[in-house]
Amino acid sequence: MKEVKNVEYGLEKIFEAAQDFLPLLGTDYVEFYVGNAKQAAHYYKTAFGFQSYAYAGLETGLKDRASYVLKQNKITLVFTTALNSSSPIGEHVKKHGDGVKVIALWVEDARKSWEETTKRGAKSYMEPTVEKDEHGETVRSGIYTYGETVHIFVERKNYKGCFLPGYVEWKSDYNPSSTGLKFVDHMVGNVGWGEMNTWVKWYEDVMGFVNFLSFDDKQIHTEYSALMSKVMSNGNGRIKFPINEPAEGKKRSQIEEYLDFYEGPGAQHIAVATDDIISTVKQLRERGVEFLSAPPHTYYEEVPMRLGSHMKMMKEDLNELEKLGILIDADEEGYLLQIFTKPVEDRPTLFYEIIQRMGARGFGAGNFKALFESIEREQEKRGTL
Ligand code: FE2
Repeated sequence: MKEVKNVEYGLEKIFEAAQDFLPLLGTDYVEFYVGNAKQAAHYYKTAFGFQSYAYAGLETGLKDRASYVLKQNKITLVFTTALNSSSPIGEHVKKHGDGVKVIALWVEDARKSWEETTKRGAKSYMEPTVEKDEHGETVRSGIYTYGETVHIFVERKNYKGCFLPGYVEWKSDYNPSSTGLKFVDHMVGNVGWGEMNTWVKWYEDVMGFVNFLSFDDKQIHTEYSALMSKVMSNGNGRIKFPINEPAEGKKRSQIEEYLDFYEGPGAQHIAVATDDIISTVKQLRERGVEFLSAPPHTYYEEVPMRLGSHMKMMKEDLNELEKLGILIDADEEGYLLQIFTKPVEDRPTLFYEIIQRMGARGFGAGNFKALFESIEREQEKRGTL
């Protein structure tokens, strides 16, 4: 299975085509609206190795919500819960279950980011807002993307505090070690039937992104189900948002299952990078993170053939990768190792991908079939295939 590039002439040229009206420095944080933030934070510390970082709640003067901020290397996650029944946070959780509300982007100028994107058609979520405390000030602004998900632009060049004004440092006596997760590699959104191209155009027009990889339902399918996916990237390649849409198949695809249970479009998975996937996955498994079942032995027998010349570069032991259920793929530039968790909440919605890139810049197209068959085995158990 080959990944289709929209243009023939290499990724650098494609990235150059991206518009520079919205320079993005990286992913700033990902905020989840959840039913119980205290317990969610504990799970992410214990299972995934995140560290306590910041907190805001009743003790800091908030009346309506509590937020726990966790950090692991460059990844910042915020878990927010409502403290009363009239909160929009509670409404969000009632409709979607636990899920991603905010994909925050780190910018040099949050006012300009808001002006440029709303001028190009984005619906405003939050007008540029200055927040201050004794450590300085931040400016944040926000726009809606698919479903009820939002992008918040964070300008923090005049801030020296630990997270954002209004938060206090969270010191805990319980500090499980890191599992080696380094940064957010990409975040995938699921959108409804026929909506993928609308959102591709939205990311192009409103955010200045480019579509650098596309997969159609002939490439992403199993015997039973299919989906389509287009990968959007900003100009420096630091922010990558693949967008999935379901496609007709004999049975219900994983994207339809997601849309049914999330009750609309939303973030499907967060891919986090590691430098040593074998060590990371061993630790995650020991700490109780559940992964999709491994592909059959024949998948691993075919790896040398699939990797071709990249096989010589591969430092990892194939038997070890098989034991841990890690998938392997390659493109012209190198190979990558990846594995997917089961959904991390009871509704079959958000899950995680752990990825180690060894030169490859793709998304594991060669693994799609094995991966989706594994997801279908889970759907079968849930009665949602
Ligand atoms: Fe992914």
